[in-house]
Amino acid sequence: MSTPSLQQAYNSELFEKDGKDLLGLLKDALDASMEEQREKVTVWVSPEEEYQFWKSFDSQQSTTKEFFETVLERSIHIHHPKFIGHQIAPTVPVSGLATLLSAQLNNGMAVYEMGQASTAIERLVIEKFTQAIGWGDGDGFLTSGGTLANLTGLLAARKAKASSDVWNEGHDTNLAILVSAEAHYCVDRAARIMGLGERGIIQVPVDDNYKMRTDLLQEYYNQAISDKLEVIAVIGSAPSTSTGIHDDLEGISAFAKANKIWFHVDGAHGGAAIFSKKYRPMLKGIEQADSVIIDGHKMMGTAAITTAVLYKNSADSYATFSQKAQYLWEQNEDPEWFNMAKRTFECTKSMMSLRFFAIWNAYGNQFFDDFVTSLYDAARAFSTLIKEASDFELFLEAESNIVCFRYVEGIEPDAYNTVNKKIRQTLLEDGVFYIVATQLRTGYYLRTTFMNPFTTAKHTKLLLEKIRDVVKIVTNK
Ligand SMILES: Cc1ncc(COP(=O)(O)O)c(C=O)c1O
Repeated sequence: MSTPSLQQAYNSELFEKDGKDLLGLLKDALDASMEEQREKVTVWVSPEEEYQFWKSFDSQQSTTKEFFETVLERSIHIHHPKFIGHQIAPTVPVSGLATLLSAQLNNGMAVYEMGQASTAIERLVIEKFTQAIGWGDGDGFLTSGGTLANLTGLLAARKAKASSDVWNEGHDTNLAILVSAEAHYCVDRAARIMGLGERGIIQVPVDDNYKMRTDLLQEYYNQAISDKLEVIAVIGSAPSTSTGIHDDLEGISAFAKANKIWFHVDGAHGGAAIFSKKYRPMLKGIEQADSVIIDGHKMMGTAAITTAVLYKNSADSYATFSQKAQYLWEQNEDPEWFNMAKRTFECTKSMMSLRFFAIWNAYGNQFFDDFVTSLYDAARAFSTLIKEASDFELFLEAESNIVCFRYVEGIEPDAYNTVNKKIRQTLLEDGVFYIVATQLRTGYYLRTTFMNPFTTAKHTKLLLEKIRDVVKIVTNK
């Protein structure tokens, strides 16, 4: 049936016109951010006001161009060098374009014939990761984000290490994992989804440098065994989210080997440093892991969301799900690298391999090295700047591109938290800079993550000046 609305919705000339409009808007937005003609990274509006805005927009029947323009105006601008906030990459434009290509093709990826090019490209992308880690027989696949990737890795751990066949028969022992108290909350969530419960998530404390206490691992493991828990895995963070500090992967690996348990590395944030000649040593021991996850949309410049789940032994990448879907594939027992849904959570999956490959194709490995290296360098320089500024206190020397600090001058220690909370809120509402905050053992800290390779010392000096101005407002001095 051909109706006017169907005709219009699939009209290729309209598509080209809207596409040209959109590309023009995106180019202008990129220039405005990168060249800082745009004064503010974000224009703060409360959630309720924003909802009311879009409710009235909905009733106005605006053009597609107006819709695109308005979204751009009312969104946070990650490409701005004064965005030093959460861990999300300023998309490399060619990766954004590849995402448009994949969105329009919409190949479903579950089986090979529903995504021939993107399936073969996915295998190549995975090979680039496993080679960079240094695995001869590694394998893996791409999935929708670090959260799902950690869950997938831990399911493979369960399959490999649990004494019973949980997938088919359910639990008959109490399984457990060992993880740093500083690990990302999604690891806790994954373990709960797997039915491990509170008892099964054994939090290992961190030392004064916020690294997991590997010296305590054996003691915690032994205690778990005497508590009748079956420990299947230990997880290392590379790095942990709040502080950007790396766990001792070599130490964790030695412990995992000695106790024959699975070693999983959550490298969602910093795993990409495998491509940085300068910072690769931070990940020493990653090659010993049984599974590793790495987000492209954090430290590799891809559009969200794009995560690699990687296994040292290729067979493990096929072991997680043994559910039959006879209507999708005919030879159920064959590994069939090319039928992706055999190995992934997703049935329909976006063609995310294109987002990586477009960057490799255009700029090679060098881009990923330069991206990570410049961001880690920038954070180190900022650490030094904070240390030299007597009115600020650095939390810990930067190991990655995450730096935590707080304003302290002229403030009683018991007011540090209140003042720094006000600083963060005022900065958010002001919008010229975007930084975030985190609660650590010693209090509330401002937190910066250097995500834009064009954020320089000029910007960080301005940030400190801005905070000093804000302090005058929030303390009435
Ligand atoms: C260490 C770590 N693991 C996992 C995640 C979750 O990743 P995603 O946001 O891609 O689900 C994050 C997100 O910040 C992270 O920092």
